[in-house]
Amino acid sequence: MKFFIDTADIAEIRDLAATGLLDGATTNPTLIAKSGRPMAEVIKEICSVVPGPVSAEVTATEWETMVAEGRKLAAIAPNVTVKVPLTKDGLRACKVLSGEGKMVNVTLCFSAGQAILAAKAGASFISPFVGRLDDISEDGMKLIEEIVTIYRQYPNFKTEVLVASIRHPRHIIDAAKMGAHVATMPPSVIRQLYQHPLTDKGLASFLADWKKTGQSILGNANAAAAE
Ligand code: G3P
Repeated sequence: MKFFIDTADIAEIRDLAATGLLDGATTNPTLIAKSGRPMAEVIKEICSVVPGPVSAEVTATEWETMVAEGRKLAAIAPNVTVKVPLTKDGLRACKVLSGEGKMVNVTLCFSAGQAILAAKAGASFISPFVGRLDDISEDGMKLIEEIVTIYRQYPNFKTEVLVASIRHPRHIIDAAKMGAHVATMPPSVIRQLYQHPLTDKGLASFLADWKKTGQSILGNANAAAAE
């Protein structure tokens, strides 16, 4: 399963990319606005830090302008993925851009029918928003299960299921069990994945017992040099 980071905060991206566990990044107009920086500048910087696909979203609503914006965004760096909304115009733009060999992420997906259309339009990624469905008392993860099941029936569909609007680690675990290809998550959720109170408690007791032995794995001279 690939891990993407869902933010335009470059400090967070740099910090978490240093672990080597990030496969890509996603942004949207809200996240770019939050960064307070010019879009082209921030996307270029993210692309230089993150090795894989970096989604940059168009803001036009009419397909020809979406295509023009998509071409401009794709020219920023080879790993830019053009993000388009799941509208009739968005899918038309997706078809054109994917026909030119550009990666396209179709976003704001809330139904399996929409996901089928995106696959037919040649999308590289479909982004179903699980958290926003949960927010309105629907079952976001049920949609992921449905899309994964449908895509499996058609090996000619090359679209990857990119689980978006993730709110907590359970969304990621369930998505992994279902075989979703990618999860994009805010930095806070990535940090949550590392955490378990029994890990902290266990480590504290191991270190306390180790200290009592007076030993050092690197030896005293080496330990001093490493400090
Ligand atoms: O980037 C798209 C998506 O992940 C947004 O999530 O938390 O605004 O619903 P959220």
